[in-house]
Amino acid sequence: MAEVLPQEMQELSQSISACRKCGLAATRANAVFGVGSLDAGVMFIGEAPGANEDKQGIPFCGAAGKVLDELLAVAALKRDDVFIGNILKCRPPGNRNPQDGEIAACTPYLDAQIAFIKPVVICCLGNFAAGYVMNKFGLAGKIQGITKIHGSIFITDAAYGKIKIMPMFHPAVVTYDATKKSLLANDFAVLKNIPKEK
Ligand code: URA
Repeated sequence: MAEVLPQEMQELSQSISACRKCGLAATRANAVFGVGSLDAGVMFIGEAPGANEDKQGIPFCGAAGKVLDELLAVAALKRDDVFIGNILKCRPPGNRNPQDGEIAACTPYLDAQIAFIKPVVICCLGNFAAGYVMNKFGLAGKIQGITKIHGSIFITDAAYGKIKIMPMFHPAVVTYDATKKSLLANDFAVLKNIPKEK
């Protein structure tokens, strides 16, 4: 059965599905709202839907999603315990990098999700997510490549209280560089042991 969203998120979901604010609307099959608990202590933010996600309308349901599921288990978390979303709600053709204009057009949706969920921890999967989220929360001066800052925990202020921002490698990296799996697993082991309850 389809999940019943609270009205504000229902309206946001409809706006995302109908969105034509950038060129990705022309090539998407489905916009991808995100999945999980809208009362989660932890949000995972990836980059953008890939081919499987575009087809199914669900984030991280392909190869990178398999890796993410294994990593969630390392942190003793299940998909239902967290919220999983993306910087872009629509797939860039050929999985190219998000463009600045697309990020600017799409991130008000993510901002609304963050404001509604009020997460205690945001795990940023990859450089695009880390760059956007850290900049949003006043951490622009701390942004470096994900190889340098993955696993760090930046504590800062959100409108609703303290928030921890944790950059991580994007799980897709494991599909072409298996050596990154242990680094990701270490970071998820750290996540396991930090307070995440609201
Ligand atoms: N990669 C992402 O960044 N997000 C997804 O939803 C799938 C793959």
